[in-house]
Amino acid sequence: MARCASAKAPAKVILFGEHFVVEGKPAIVAAVDLYARVKAFDIRSSIVEAYSKNLSARGIVWPECSDSKLCFIGEIIKGVGIELGRIWPARLIIDSEIPMGSGMGSSASVSVAATAAYLGLASLRPSPSILERIALYGERLIHGKPSGVDVAIAVHGGVLFFRRDKGVLRKLTPRLDGVVLIVADSGIVRNTGIAVKLVLERKKRLGKIGDNVYSLAEEIVMEAMKALESGDVTRLGELMDLNHGLLNAMGVSTPELERLAYEARKAGALGAKITGAGLGGSIIALAEEDKAENIVKALKRYAVRAYILNPGAKGVVVEEEC
Ligand code: PMV
Repeated sequence: MARCASAKAPAKVILFGEHFVVEGKPAIVAAVDLYARVKAFDIRSSIVEAYSKNLSARGIVWPECSDSKLCFIGEIIKGVGIELGRIWPARLIIDSEIPMGSGMGSSASVSVAATAAYLGLASLRPSPSILERIALYGERLIHGKPSGVDVAIAVHGGVLFFRRDKGVLRKLTPRLDGVVLIVADSGIVRNTGIAVKLVLERKKRLGKIGDNVYSLAEEIVMEAMKALESGDVTRLGELMDLNHGLLNAMGVSTPELERLAYEARKAGALGAKITGAGLGGSIIALAEEDKAENIVKALKRYAVRAYILNPGAKGVVVEEEC
């Protein structure tokens, strides 16, 4: 057993296909250079404990869980037991710079970094698919029915085409010459699990019409992939607007998110949409470089933060320094 192991995993923005991805439709997702870091320490004990500055929580997570905010870490430890057949004592220190509940996948990034650090402590360097599988034990407790897109991007990094049912994962090479992505956070913290449940219930009630909305969402993602790789940024922007419209139709927009998307477009964005679960959290906008600063300025009047994103960050890294 090492004395200590440390891992960091990136945040993400979903460019296309959130929610629809939960029911097996494709999504396009990009890792961004904001990180969750977890350090795992060997302790002389028979428990696993965790401390999170961000959640203001500290407690035992295995074999029992003493603080509900940290039980997702306990689920990951149980997942290690199920997948690898053993569990070892540890103290996990979580430190994340990813805003919580903002649609940037903070819980998945923490889950992936915690999994990698905990396994690193036992000098294990698992395959990406094992990492994803174990981290998903944590996500299931938080979200109920995660598609796995957040965990996949935190593990692999880059820009991915993701489809849950067929296990499709393709690294994309976007051509975004002369344009940038902007994110604006409404500051409204929301719960992904609640948003996912709401959308799934609406889909069920809508029946055939719901199926058609999901088919259209799939078509948008397939077209967006072509536009992204061929550099057709005008089309990409319009597809973002369409994707936003469908998310609104499924009930996860709010006046604040509509305001942000509207302000981005008014200030010259090529397109704007909710990113992540909605009901709060963030929007993203696509903008020509020379308009970006103006758009960020316009968004800052309504958002708690707005800035230009760097898509395509590296996936989880186990760091040498601890
Ligand atoms: O808002 P976030 O970062 O929790 O993203 C959730 C993405 C969803 O598609 C809404 C849920 C999922 O599991 O894919």
